Amino acid sequence: MRLLNIRLIVSLILGITLVSLVSSYYEVRAQKRSLRQDLEHRAEVLAESLAQNVEPYFGKGSRRLQKIVGQFGNREHLEGVVIVDREGTLLAVTPGLASSLASQSHAVSQSMIDNHGISEFVHQGGGASNIYAVPLHKDEQVIGALAIIHDATYIEAQKARVWRETFFRVLVQVLLIALITLLIVRWSIAGPIARAAQWMKALRTGRASAQAPDMDLLFPLAKEVETFAQSLTAARNAAEKEAELRAAAASLWTAERLCVHVRGRLGDSRLFVVSNREPYFHTRQGKTIQAIVPASGLVTALEPVLCACDGTWIAHGSGEADREVVDKNDRLRVPPDDHRYTLRRVWLTKEEEEGYYYGFANEGLWPLCHIAHTRPIFRASDWKHYQMANQRFADAVLDEMSGIERPVLLAQDYHFALLPRLIKKERPDARVAIFWHIPWPNPEAFSICPWQRELLDGLLGADLIGFHIQSHCNNFLQTVDRTLESRVDWEHFAVNREEHRTSVLPFPISVDFDENPPSGESAYIERGVLLRELGIEATYLGVGVDRVDYTKGIQERFLAIERLLEHYPSYRGKFSFIQIGAPSRTHIKRYHDLFGEVEAEAERINWKFATGKWKPIIFRKGQHNHQEIERFYRIADVCLVTSLHDGMNLVAKEFVASRHDQQGVLILSVFTGAARELRDALLVNPYDIEQTAEAIRSALEMRAEDRQTRMEHMRKIVREQNVYRWAANLIGSLSEVRLDQAEPSVFAKSLGV
Ligand code: G6P
Repeated sequence: MRLLNIRLIVSLILGITLVSLVSSYYEVRAQKRSLRQDLEHRAEVLAESLAQNVEPYFGKGSRRLQKIVGQFGNREHLEGVVIVDREGTLLAVTPGLASSLASQSHAVSQSMIDNHGISEFVHQGGGASNIYAVPLHKDEQVIGALAIIHDATYIEAQKARVWRETFFRVLVQVLLIALITLLIVRWSIAGPIARAAQWMKALRTGRASAQAPDMDLLFPLAKEVETFAQSLTAARNAAEKEAELRAAAASLWTAERLCVHVRGRLGDSRLFVVSNREPYFHTRQGKTIQAIVPASGLVTALEPVLCACDGTWIAHGSGEADREVVDKNDRLRVPPDDHRYTLRRVWLTKEEEEGYYYGFANEGLWPLCHIAHTRPIFRASDWKHYQMANQRFADAVLDEMSGIERPVLLAQDYHFALLPRLIKKERPDARVAIFWHIPWPNPEAFSICPWQRELLDGLLGADLIGFHIQSHCNNFLQTVDRTLESRVDWEHFAVNREEHRTSVLPFPISVDFDENPPSGESAYIERGVLLRELGIEATYLGVGVDRVDYTKGIQERFLAIERLLEHYPSYRGKFSFIQIGAPSRTHIKRYHDLFGEVEAEAERINWKFATGKWKPIIFRKGQHNHQEIERFYRIADVCLVTSLHDGMNLVAKEFVASRHDQQGVLILSVFTGAARELRDALLVNPYDIEQTAEAIRSALEMRAEDRQTRMEHMRKIVREQNVYRWAANLIGSLSEVRLDQAEPSVFAKSLGV
């Protein structure tokens, strides 16, 4: 800092001095020129008028001449007058004036030669004089010259004065500017740097928060440093947590542990994920574009993996402003504030989306795999679009994989049954897994699909197929056994077909389990606030959170609430159920109708029982983010998950993860994957309305200790079997798969050799 001060001040002194000197030099020159011109002008006027006066008396020894000349002298800077004849002989001179000055002057002789006035400045004995000579005439002949001599020393004095003043002005300026500079440096640079240094030191030793102090001019730097500090704090917390866990001999999975695991397992391979839903979609809000994270367990699960190894996520670009933020290769770096991996968007026309997503995936495969008594619809045109879309996504994946050796691909869900084969055909060196997030039905149910063979063949292109639970794996293996020529290895849960082996294993997906309760009001106060917001009064609260989908058993849930109020009238005016319903796939008629049906059912039951400020069902339509939903989880006495069929159901696990108070009861359908793990929930058959109504009553009347014991058990399971363990197991198993012999020619082609 001292060096900076010295450099700054020396540069300022040199700069200011130089500028002042140059400007003063020109100022002095201009002033000197103007003073000289002024003097010459006065001399000229005087000389001209005097010449006329003396010409009549011109001649040697003329007393008149001497008298006229004698009158001049000691006037303002005027030293005197000299008159000479044509030969330079002195005829008259002002007394006391050195006559030699004029007789030897070049101006005098030159004025007679040129026959007009000449001015000359001469320096003599430390002084300076101006001689202005004019020729004298008789009968138009030059007969001599008259010279006016002025003392010009005052011009030099004036020059010296200007220089002196300049010196003092520069001195004062330099001192002032140096002082101001020092103060600015001290206040705006040295101060913030010192504060930042102190803060960073405190941060290093763990004594400061990650929030940067006021850093004034260094504000942009502060933002960056703050991000560093946050990463450092997060890393330190994670390290501490790891150390604690190691000390407790626990084996919990965290995002950080997953990162290390993934890097170790993948080595220098690159990871690719393909899913229909993208992890961020962009929408326009006024004039700005905003990135939105869809509420999806898939994003929570896969994002840390992608971040850990800077992978590429290929997904359908479905946001209205998605095209505006990608580069020419349809890529962008995400997360928006901390670019850690690449998102590659794939575009589909309305017609393609209609056939592939709404049609085959959601009107065909979705009801086919969920036994929820909604008839699947298989249209040949949808199947065409499904094939085409799988090829389109596969092309994008292959494009991203081009030039990369031994890539690893995690394909997601029922939208991409054909994609594993398409990838393997081109890239036998790739490790390919597909995770099927929904149930797999029994072979009879699956066999109604006209393209069951093609779907199975596509899936079996993968090295690993993951389901949530073992029974879905078993259903899949039985379906393959019945449909295709292959050898099912029941001992190791794998299919051998055409010299390719596909492992089929369960990986129960989960949620991120945050040990720290969210800051804010206690659940008790929060409940009062929420009831006020909803405009109702109730003693007991139940909650349900779902996409409005016919597989979720929302109407069955409402019927159970109706039955509870019929059988146990004491709960009228006391028990209210809040159903959060996110509209989903409403473009499909069945979903569109369902929304209306759910609304009508809630209204019917409310009309039947509602009194004063109380009503049994509050149906909150719309998308809610995780924080909003968590508020409801935290205040509910009971959470109802009554899916008619569900691969896993993350709502059940989210509810458990949010109950830091170890309270609340979970009522869970036996037809969810989650029911295999959360045995301490009250398990119900959602079709059995009486049983569910009884379960609600048991939940509301359960002793606090029982509630706590059940919740503690379930929390232990969700804490241990969290989403990071899911991702770690999936990638771990895929990295252990033995690849078939890759065909060199095909491999070489994709590497561009
Ligand atoms: C299920 C599927 C997911 C899907 C989600 C939301 O959980 O397994 O793949 O993303 O529903 O449905 P949507 O059609 O809106 O993506």
